[in-house]
Amino acid sequence: MKTNRQHARAISSKLNTQFVGKQLHCYNTLTSTMTVAREKAVKGAQEGTVIIAEEQTSGRGRMGRTWRSPQGNLALSLILKPNLENLPRLVMIASLAVLRTIKFLTNIDATIKWPNDVLIKDKKVCGILIESEVKGETVNYAIIGIGLNIYLDASNFPDISTIATSLRQETAQAVSKPELTAILLSELEKLYLAVKDGATIYKEWRAHMDTLGKWVEVKSGKTTERGVAEDIMPNGNLILRHTDGNTTEILAGDVTVLKR
Ligand code: BTN
Repeated sequence: MKTNRQHARAISSKLNTQFVGKQLHCYNTLTSTMTVAREKAVKGAQEGTVIIAEEQTSGRGRMGRTWRSPQGNLALSLILKPNLENLPRLVMIASLAVLRTIKFLTNIDATIKWPNDVLIKDKKVCGILIESEVKGETVNYAIIGIGLNIYLDASNFPDISTIATSLRQETAQAVSKPELTAILLSELEKLYLAVKDGATIYKEWRAHMDTLGKWVEVKSGKTTERGVAEDIMPNGNLILRHTDGNTTEILAGDVTVLKR
């Protein structure tokens, strides 16, 4: 088993970024990289600090779910300090960075299920969780959590066997985890800096959206709505058109594609 320092060195030696991953903390096992990232962010960790665990024992998913995070997958949290306007764009930055990384390494065109699941052939290969602390107009910190299935054999996990996949399952190509991590961090930085400079990444994000035009059910808090996923707004919100012709704009939720 590699030491934490060996894991960090394997990534750092391939990293070509300005600030993302310059502070890189690797662990063999953690409860959740989100928890450690938050502790570090609260203590004033510098922007770009990255926490990686080879395995998480209590990985967190969206909507209070757990996230399977065995050895061989990537579990990463990145601390950023965006302004309030750019906070909702972290979802786009993270999912696009994952898409670009997968394309670069495997030539697979992954898609996005709104808001930020990354799919290969309709199965989830990556989940993204964004947590932040905002006081008034100030974002004290935001954390992008990325769980990317690299070597997961979903058939070992009955609860996700039909809905999850991994790069290993989708391509015969061997994927180097340190290389993948370095590319992902570099794409995250590129997109984040571009957005800070005023670039619009919404069009690229929307172009990869798998959900549009589909009949879906969206669970958001205690409400569940059905309709056609008609459009995505530049702020990332989903426009749902109901059978009566009315539309709802949804900020966050969990989408299930329905068969009609
Ligand atoms: C989801 O699709 O529900 C989001 C899953 C996010 C999982 C990642 S793995 C790295 C980071 N640490 C966690 O505990 N969760 C996120």
